[in-house]
Amino acid sequence: MNTEHTFDATEVKACCALAYQSDAARLLLGDSFHPGGIQLTEYLGSLLRLEQGHRVLDVASGQGASAIALARRFGCQVLGIEYGAEAVRQASRAAVAENLAHLVTFQQGDAEHLPVPDNSFDALICECAFCTFPNKTLAALEFQRVLKPTGQLGLNDLTCTGAVPEDLQDLLAWIACIADAQPVESYIRYLEKGGLNITRIENHDSALHDMVEQIQGKLLGTELLLRLRKVELPASFDIEQAKRLARAAKAAIQSNTFGYVTLLARKEY
Ligand SMILES: C[S@@+](CC[C@H](N)C(=O)[O-])C[C@H]1O[C@@H](n2cnc3c(N)ncnc32)[C@H](O)[C@@H]1O
Repeated sequence: MNTEHTFDATEVKACCALAYQSDAARLLLGDSFHPGGIQLTEYLGSLLRLEQGHRVLDVASGQGASAIALARRFGCQVLGIEYGAEAVRQASRAAVAENLAHLVTFQQGDAEHLPVPDNSFDALICECAFCTFPNKTLAALEFQRVLKPTGQLGLNDLTCTGAVPEDLQDLLAWIACIADAQPVESYIRYLEKGGLNITRIENHDSALHDMVEQIQGKLLGTELLLRLRKVELPASFDIEQAKRLARAAKAAIQSNTFGYVTLLARKEY
């Protein structure tokens, strides 16, 4: 289990936010920045039994694709909280473009200090982001604080059994949600310590495998476009490093070191 992190917490959050609001992230990941895409998000919504009138919080809402999809599918009201200011702007524009601004709003904020009142949400989702939070104990306490009594958490996240391979512990790996991924038992402990009761655990490893394969395909395509000078990438984006990371991640998935899990938890009081 990787409980110690060697990077400054603020640096990790800021770099993560910057990376995920970049054009490179959209190029490699499309609109939805997690394994399983919108299909898995809507499935999570059905497990949470979302419906019209429910207030849902999407913590680390990225470009807003999940929040928008849940509002469209279930008619619920969704507030997305996201660290990156530019991602908040992009997500807000997307909600307007989808004619869903009356149901979906986005606000800048930190998962470890949620800018919302106690007991205010029927459900909270957090996808592919809990593993990047430097202080998971604090984030779990915040989830519990903002849920109404009997409110439910739906968490989709990357898991890591055993030690994260050393070549997957740099800053890019943090941003790719890998470096501080932990076993599902650790996530359960954080949530239980935060006062939530686990009600369901599902394995979705195949979604992670498919996503890494898609990224590898897009990296190859991007390399070709770069050679043909048909695309430009920011100077900070190192395609060789990204390819190495994707290769190492795929090997770790194949050896069952990495996986993807859905956890449901309830606030009982
Ligand atoms: C892998 S992306 C997932 C985005 C979105 N949940 C999705 O599935 O499309 C991780 C997101 O977490 C955000 N993030 C990281 N740390 C955060 C924090 N402490 N508070 C809020 N958002 C955070 C990043 O800016 C990034 O948008």
